[in-house]
Amino acid sequence: MLGSYTLLLFLLANCGPHIGKIVTSYPVPTKEQAKTEFTEEQLAQGRTIWQSTCDRCHDLHPETKHTPEGWNRTLRRMIHKSKLTEDEGVLVRAYLIANSK
Ligand code: HEC
Repeated sequence: MLGSYTLLLFLLANCGPHIGKIVTSYPVPTKEQAKTEFTEEQLAQGRTIWQSTCDRCHDLHPETKHTPEGWNRTLRRMIHKSKLTEDEGVLVRAYLIANSK
């Protein structure tokens, strides 16, 4: 019991900074920036993470559903729900923005 309570506190304590950093310290890249500032390999990794984590609660929404700003808004909620690390979140965001509307 004490163990899981400690774990919960640990998770809560770790949650904030990660999410805060993705949405505040990284500016929203434009589509062109996402394509040029990330390597093919990083974008492919982002795609793999997206395919394997973002369909857990609903079908994958197409990349072209949103503009870069739109994805940033949605990902604020979804990266949190997916419990992705900051690095994973950045890669997923880069992939989605590179292929956005
Ligand atoms: C823990 C469950 C869960 C996971 C994991 C999850 N989602 Fe969602 N998603 C939801 C729920 C619930 C909604 C509807 C409520 C809302 O829009 O916040 C939703 C709605 C959406 C929508 C439609 C609303 C909009 O803003 O366009 C998109 C797109 C989306 N999710 C993308 C993603 C992506 C990308 C990921 C992976 C990073 C992801 N989701 C992971 C639960 C989840």
